[in-house]
Amino acid sequence: MNNFIHCIPTRICFGKGQISHLSELAQSGSKVLLVYGGGSIKKMGIYDKALEILQGAGLTVYELSGVQPNPRIESVREGAKLCKENAIDMVLAIGGGSTIDCAKAVAAAACYDGDAWDLVLNPGKIEAALPIYSVLTLSATGSEMDRFAVISDMSKNEKWGMGSEHLIPKMSVLDPTYTYSVSRRQTAAGTADIMSHTLENYFSPNDGFIQARFCEAILKTLIHYGPIALAEPDNYEARANLMWASSNAINGFVSDGYRVGWCVHPMEHELSAFYDITHGEGLAILTPHWMKHVLSDATVDKFYEYGINVWGLTPSEDRFAVAEEAISCTRDYFVNKLGIPATLADVGITDEENFQVMAEKAARGCRGCYVPLTPQDIVEIYRAAK
Ligand code: NZQ
Ligand code: ZN
Repeated sequence: MNNFIHCIPTRICFGKGQISHLSELAQSGSKVLLVYGGGSIKKMGIYDKALEILQGAGLTVYELSGVQPNPRIESVREGAKLCKENAIDMVLAIGGGSTIDCAKAVAAAACYDGDAWDLVLNPGKIEAALPIYSVLTLSATGSEMDRFAVISDMSKNEKWGMGSEHLIPKMSVLDPTYTYSVSRRQTAAGTADIMSHTLENYFSPNDGFIQARFCEAILKTLIHYGPIALAEPDNYEARANLMWASSNAINGFVSDGYRVGWCVHPMEHELSAFYDITHGEGLAILTPHWMKHVLSDATVDKFYEYGINVWGLTPSEDRFAVAEEAISCTRDYFVNKLGIPATLADVGITDEENFQVMAEKAARGCRGCYVPLTPQDIVEIYRAAK
């Protein structure tokens, strides 16, 4: 195990009614930028509740609304301008990963003199950010407890993740009841996203024993509770387990101490950048094809372990048969248990015209991953997923 420092400075307020902790924002100043998306928080009553608490704590609230899924750099620029013009002290995101990511980028851009896109392309330039708070309403990305934000410039078909210690939220409210209203489609996509974060760590170049067991626990949780959340949207245990899985799949808990390299995510980010699809759906479509592509004599033992420990398959002398069965289970879970589209064509990607350029960009993000992928490998995976 490599040396590491494990420090996640996000204070997590987990459970029913924990939104009351928003009064603590007064510790960070008197002006807050409330960032939210297309209005689901108003329908759910969270908006009114949050305003009541914030104003009750003496805070002045400014707003950046309309943040889109696959959040745009234009929203970030608008938020940073508001912060600078009004000397805002902190940002509060209420929503899913897109809203939280946008708020994070705003928080950094508010402390930067140049254009916000510079920070997306070169997060090393982030030297400070306003304090970031979040109220999570969709279990998926883990943005509520991690150091990343993913921002798009659709005019250039660019979508990049930026990472910095300054982007880690100071506090996040995780109330599972806020996810009762998440649609079937977004619940499934979010669960697939958590699954993918875990698999990106599980299938990594140097295997950590304890980290792999943590991953298996998260994967089993998703396999068990994903379909329950779909069948019973207001099942508290299901929503709570998915929510805590979301945070722990990407906050460093399952990866600290060993080398990880992600590859399905870079491939999916290109799909979203060019076709604006839902992140979790793209991951679910690509993952089984990536698995088939990298299954070989060198990787069969890991896939065997995955089949036995995660899917409960019967041990066998034929390790390839178990590995292939594990890949089939993965696909069956996404398509039949979660109801996610099976192919790229099902999410509207019917041409191949961008595959080469997407693959070249994705290959840059795949360096150091479990099995190194060339642009040609990635084109083959996209084609298989069509
Ligand atoms: O716009 P609103 O009204 O908020 O509606 C959203 C949106 O339409 C809706 N929604 C959220 N909570 C809801 C709800 N609807 C009803 N009830 C609720 N409680 O769901 C839709 C999707 O929301 P979005 O925030 O886009 O989803 P998600 O959380 O999956 O975020 C996806 C974005 O995060 C990035 C993805 O690439 C994508 O841009 N990622 C961020 C990561 C990170 N920060 O670490 C890592 C991930 O791998 C990922 O790349
Ligand atoms: Zn993801």
